[in-house]
Amino acid sequence: MTRRLGSETLVIATHNAGKLKEISALLAPHGVQCVSAGALGLAEPVEDGTTFVENALIKARAAAQASGLPALADDSGMSVAALGGRPGVYTADWAERQSFEGEPGRDWYMAMGKVEGLLCEQGSEVDRSCWFSCVLAIAWPDGETAVYQGRVDGTYSWPPRGTMGFGYDPVFVPQGDTRSFAELDPEEKHKISHRADAFAKLVAAQFGG
Ligand code: IMP
Repeated sequence: MTRRLGSETLVIATHNAGKLKEISALLAPHGVQCVSAGALGLAEPVEDGTTFVENALIKARAAAQASGLPALADDSGMSVAALGGRPGVYTADWAERQSFEGEPGRDWYMAMGKVEGLLCEQGSEVDRSCWFSCVLAIAWPDGETAVYQGRVDGTYSWPPRGTMGFGYDPVFVPQGDTRSFAELDPEEKHKISHRADAFAKLVAAQFGG
């Protein structure tokens, strides 16, 4: 029997304002009151897992233990079949670069180009299958956890196209479409995305009949 969220406030274990807004909006229809880990002043744990599930659990457990409330965390990224699933949990790391001022920053064009360069090394007939993964993990303060995994499959397409979305959206063409995620209206993307898939599973298990 799946443990269900009760009436307590749910901690969203992210310091990313965009994610907090998106997750709170998805949970609002189910009467879930949310607060962010940032608003509670919780420290960000080191994400040293080797899978999306491990990293999502690290974040959810740390927030649940520190706050004494149930906590929800997500971890996501892009995997490329011909690269053995890379960049995977290192999706954001591949975009890390120092600015001219020495400030750390993220350069998504560089990260997308790095993947493309590795694919090109394998020749023009290389398998361009790839997928986005999203893992949602709930942790309760007593240590119990629940995990929901979402995925969307597609093709790694070069050059990048489109101006909507974020991260690797311009190079990801979902199966059954010719447009990249960055060329889809956000509403269209959110119907088929890895995050939508994981959320549908969470909602069915936590709030379904
Ligand atoms: P994290 O889940 O915050 O660790 O981020 C993983 C990285 O994966 C993000 O910074 C994005 O670059 C990438 N990513 C995850 N979901 C998406 C998506 O829907 N579109 C494009 N990139 C994504």
